[in-house]
Amino acid sequence: MVISDKTEMSDDDLICICMSVSRGEIKASIRNGSRTVDELKAALYCCTGCGTCEGRVRTLLEEELKAISGNTKETA
Ligand code: FES
Repeated sequence: MVISDKTEMSDDDLICICMSVSRGEIKASIRNGSRTVDELKAALYCCTGCGTCEGRVRTLLEEELKAISGNTKETA
């Protein structure tokens, strides 16, 4: 039995609705050096409205940092 992964998100999906910040924009900011939620807030203004997206932003940050770390280890 194959279960489709409908939880998979695209880079166009909005992570921060209030500030219209997409998953792709957050990933790009992390690739360009943002390493904390506060740095993402400063760069993109995400999490600066209602604040309910902060958990999603933090999770995405952790995932991306792990991916970057993994890629670095492979190429080092
Ligand atoms: S959804 Fe990001 S601040 Fe409201």
